Amino acid sequence: MTFNPQIPSWGKDFSENYINELLSYHSWLSTTGIKTGLISPKNNQFIWDEFIVHSLYFYKIVNDLNILSQNIFDLGTGGGIPGIPFGIVSDQEITLVDIKQKRIFELERLISVQKLSNITAIKEDAEILIKNNDHTIFLMRCYIPHSSLVNLLEKNIENNKQNTFIVSSNADTVNNLEDMFHVKQEKFLINNDEYRYIDVITVK
Ligand SMILES: C[S@@+](CC[C@H](N)C(=O)[O-])C[C@H]1O[C@@H](n2cnc3c(N)ncnc32)[C@H](O)[C@@H]1O
Repeated sequence: MTFNPQIPSWGKDFSENYINELLSYHSWLSTTGIKTGLISPKNNQFIWDEFIVHSLYFYKIVNDLNILSQNIFDLGTGGGIPGIPFGIVSDQEITLVDIKQKRIFELERLISVQKLSNITAIKEDAEILIKNNDHTIFLMRCYIPHSSLVNLLEKNIENNKQNTFIVSSNADTVNNLEDMFHVKQEKFLINNDEYRYIDVITVK
């Protein structure tokens, strides 16, 4: 099925040189990704707009904040979303994290075939990484429901860590975090007329 591998204007300057690599990843997601259950069956345009373009905005946020040198973990990565597109358009070291070994095996095969030398995949519990790391960036796209996010972030406060969490969200989910955290909400276009939100959360 044909689709339009569009990039909204906010992403053109850092993505255009990597369009072939992004298309290869798209092709893998729409075949192996669906066959092995890493993503549920979706059409090609949806996979491009919702998974690849959405992931690129995680990179834009980190790049704009000028914090690219910190460790970056993609928690609950599933099929490598958002960590793989992020790693394709940057030379930043990224660690993809998932609790399911089968997902890690598939991601390791992809990393090897596409020669994504700045990306690593590990089987680990996200909670352990949050507990043990400091001055680290944690990307989370559709990893846990917002109701569980507060508990997870509280662990970070208990352990006195200065981490940054970049989390996909809905427009109305920010308020119950704002007592304890700095939350900046980014609204962005994924295609011609649909918007999505990502929250940038740091401890106060
Ligand atoms: C809904 S999927 C989201 C995948 C991907 N980030 C995306 O946006 O499509 C959630 C993923 O989190 C993983 N996961 C669940 N609990 C986890 C944990 N405690 N630590 C690490 N990964 C976990 C699951 O195996 C699954 O792959």
